[in-house]
Amino acid sequence: MPSHILVIDQGTTSTRAIVFDAAMKPVASAQEEFPQIFPHPGWVEHNPETLWATTLGTARAAIAEAGLTASDIAGLGIANQRETALIWDRATGRPIANAIVWQDRRTAEFCEQLETDGAGPLVAERTGLRLDPYFSATKIAWLLDHVPGARAQAEDGKLAFGTVDTFLLWRLTGGQVHATDATNASRTLLCDIRTGIWDQDLLKLFNIPGSLLPEIRDCAGHFGTTQPDFFGGPIAIRGIAGDQQAALIGQGCFTPGTVKATYGTGGFVLLNIGDKPKQSRHRLLTTIAWARGGERAYALEGSIFSAGASVQWLRDGLGLVENSAETGRLAEAADPGQSVYLVPAFTGLGAPHWNSHARALVSGISRGTTKRELARAVLESIGYQTRDLLQAMLADYGEPIEDLAFRVDGGMSASDWTMQFLADMLGHAVERPEFRETTAMGAAYLAGLDAGLYPEPAEFARSRAVDRRFTPGLDEATRAAKYRGWLHAVKLATLPED
Ligand code: G3P
Repeated sequence: MPSHILVIDQGTTSTRAIVFDAAMKPVASAQEEFPQIFPHPGWVEHNPETLWATTLGTARAAIAEAGLTASDIAGLGIANQRETALIWDRATGRPIANAIVWQDRRTAEFCEQLETDGAGPLVAERTGLRLDPYFSATKIAWLLDHVPGARAQAEDGKLAFGTVDTFLLWRLTGGQVHATDATNASRTLLCDIRTGIWDQDLLKLFNIPGSLLPEIRDCAGHFGTTQPDFFGGPIAIRGIAGDQQAALIGQGCFTPGTVKATYGTGGFVLLNIGDKPKQSRHRLLTTIAWARGGERAYALEGSIFSAGASVQWLRDGLGLVENSAETGRLAEAADPGQSVYLVPAFTGLGAPHWNSHARALVSGISRGTTKRELARAVLESIGYQTRDLLQAMLADYGEPIEDLAFRVDGGMSASDWTMQFLADMLGHAVERPEFRETTAMGAAYLAGLDAGLYPEPAEFARSRAVDRRFTPGLDEATRAAKYRGWLHAVKLATLPED
């Protein structure tokens, strides 16, 4: 009997594969980083063949490390970097260009034009998103308009579009299946999240032929079977979700009012809002959290552009620390009497500020300021930015949430100091799970659920083991005063230039 689940987590900077056993425990893993391609300022690309090669390479390595063969694998789950867009030739499977990565800003002008034309409200109402280069639609249009002959070929039905999940599914099944899941579809700007289907008005707006698009499916289900020669035998592909939604699932956030934050280079916060989409009044995104049995759950989402990136700046840009653990130690020793703030708007500010012109600043420096206060300001900025987001989310959510526990994962969640400050600033408990690869866990869960190997959602959520619960400790007056100082610093960072 096949008793294991294989997961591929195709992220922005690396591809990972993890094998989980029947008890949902990881037993083997492999990881490969790959080059980022920056052809012009503001452009970010990935070579699709590298995404494919690292997928095959890490999956094979993880299966071998686990001492298993394809026949031991009950299902494969895929989690992926989300909005990144690829187009390939249906006959040859060859991409017509590099993938345009979610961070790429080349279509900013196109988005501004559409906004000026008044398309914003329609887009927000149907997709829950904003007119921003972040999402796939304008990237697809750019490829069709800039790769010679692409638009004509697309009109003839010769090309296929996909986010990375779709491309990998196509390759893994030897071109048999052109499909995506509802979470990835909800990041394209082309899917009506209220119905879960491609929207003809939006296709027209972005000038994208419908023949390019994959079929939208539930997150757990039989997506197809891998070509036998890839892994020495066929493996059923049973689960797909965009990586942030996969982390929400991996954290067991199945009920309305549950929330998770993943802290990597940036940070992604998602709040489960139940089975009805709700348009944000606080400049957050609404997105499909998952789809199962034809039913959908929704989440509000906000992102912080700079979390771990600020620590990297302290280390690589300023050379003030050797590693992130040292940052925590310095922060602990900082002078409590100094109010030093870092607003890490290195690439502008994300939700709920959405200010792409803002630039980073450090405020409150005095003659007595040392790297200790600067380190504290870096770590505190994660707490402040998260509070900005959570406040906006709770205001949109509209109902009080009893016993809200803020579930964290990702690299920065390892810092006890940062997580304690986060709890202090949010005024809610912060829960860190024992197993922090929640993205992979979520994709494994979807595949394991479909394979009949893993339990139903409620039981899965109960089985999550918590490593540590940080409870808020700061008195209310200090908490309020510190946050006021942050809001003032944000104001300074977002002042228009003369
Ligand atoms: O929306 C972008 C997000 O899916 C990227 O996640 O972990 O690959 O940086 P990550």
